[in-house]
Amino acid sequence: MALWGARFSEQADKRLQAFNASISIDQKMVNQDIKGSIAHVTMLADQGIIETSDKEAIISNLKDIQKEIADGSLPIDPDAEDIHMFIEAELTKRTPSGKKVHTARSRNDQVATDFKLYSLDTCAEIKKYIVAMIQTLLHQAKANTHTIMPGYTHLQRAQPITFAHHLMAYVEMLKRDLSRLDDAMQRANTCPLGAGALATTTYPIDRYETAELLGFSGPTLNSIDSVSDRDFAIEMTNTFAMIMMHLSRFCEEIILWCSWEFQFIELSDAFATGSSIMPQKKNPDVAELVRGKTGRVYGDLNTLLAMMKNLPLAYNKDLQEDKEAFMDAAQTVEDCLVTMIPMVDTWTVHPQKMKEAAQKGFINATDCADYLTKKGMAFRDAYGCIGQLVKYCISTHQDLESLSMDEYHKISPLFDDDVYEAVALKTCVKNRNVVGGPSPEMVEKHISLVEKELEAY
Ligand code: ARG
Repeated sequence: MALWGARFSEQADKRLQAFNASISIDQKMVNQDIKGSIAHVTMLADQGIIETSDKEAIISNLKDIQKEIADGSLPIDPDAEDIHMFIEAELTKRTPSGKKVHTARSRNDQVATDFKLYSLDTCAEIKKYIVAMIQTLLHQAKANTHTIMPGYTHLQRAQPITFAHHLMAYVEMLKRDLSRLDDAMQRANTCPLGAGALATTTYPIDRYETAELLGFSGPTLNSIDSVSDRDFAIEMTNTFAMIMMHLSRFCEEIILWCSWEFQFIELSDAFATGSSIMPQKKNPDVAELVRGKTGRVYGDLNTLLAMMKNLPLAYNKDLQEDKEAFMDAAQTVEDCLVTMIPMVDTWTVHPQKMKEAAQKGFINATDCADYLTKKGMAFRDAYGCIGQLVKYCISTHQDLESLSMDEYHKISPLFDDDVYEAVALKTCVKNRNVVGGPSPEMVEKHISLVEKELEAY
């Protein structure tokens, strides 16, 4: 008979048991469940609700159970309903005091508490990987502040930038993800334990003590909301989805960059794969998988949102579906970061290829127009002149660097010998010395700024 079977006269059908169970998923919350129970009984004893001897028996047996599950000597019963029932049943087998652990508690506040603790631990873990990814990008950026490449809009060569500047764009995205996680974690930091099934309890519990023992900033303030709120999981999964979106954009570029068409980078052999038929192939499977798994995390977020949208207050069993989606999203983010970090760390950059690409496509045309503007022409007129000049270059197979002064003068008498210096890619990059810009000086400043910010993590 199940722990809740006292009012039933028939055994639960095997099919119901299998369908109803969540042990295969929530067994990941062993540590959080035990931590929650230890805090709960400590508070119960302090409040005189249970004997100190009961508290001690419960805590020492819970610690044994935790150790034995960790070392594998206590296998988790796959037929148990969930991790909370399994641990309570195991505890009760070991000590009669076990029957008192659930005093003034419901599985509803227990599961909300365990899940919050678990999700907070998970975010802390993911933050470490994001910091490591940022550090890897900073390292790559430092080595490439002078590596000129074309910056793109519409995937058409647009203006000259550096590889460092491009990588630092991803650093900014990941920094926002870090702060999103911090923000979600801060809002999740209230303790549902003591909310009971939905309406607290008649025992004189001290919810402030329980919250403090568990590291929360305080108790939740409405018992109904406490057991039915999953905003925290949705906010965190939303951030996971955004992290994946950022990683996926990055991976899309990595895939392009290591194609023969670009050849901007080459992945190390350890982080590339081959083909079963084409002996020449070296494929960026990791980057493609990250891109593919992004859809999966979006799906997890959608699962959570859809699960919540018409639940009446308070607890409904639908909520049991929350952990699988959250855990899958978190695990996916972690797996992607774990593999991407060394992939980026070990790639080879080809500055020469980037430069060659930068030299084609007239990406210094804006600079050439700015040159005329600085000599006194209105920008829109200058824009028109350079448009004509580019057209001329295309028809005569030349570029702005190779035109003769006579050819320049056919367009405008304002051109002088210093135009060659003005349209040199190095100059174009160096002169974009505005905050947030690609000049080596600005990017170096940006890198050291981020290094300082990371010290807080
Ligand atoms: N395994 C359940 C969950 O994850 C535990 C809560 C069950 N509560 C209930 N009132 N039936 O949500």
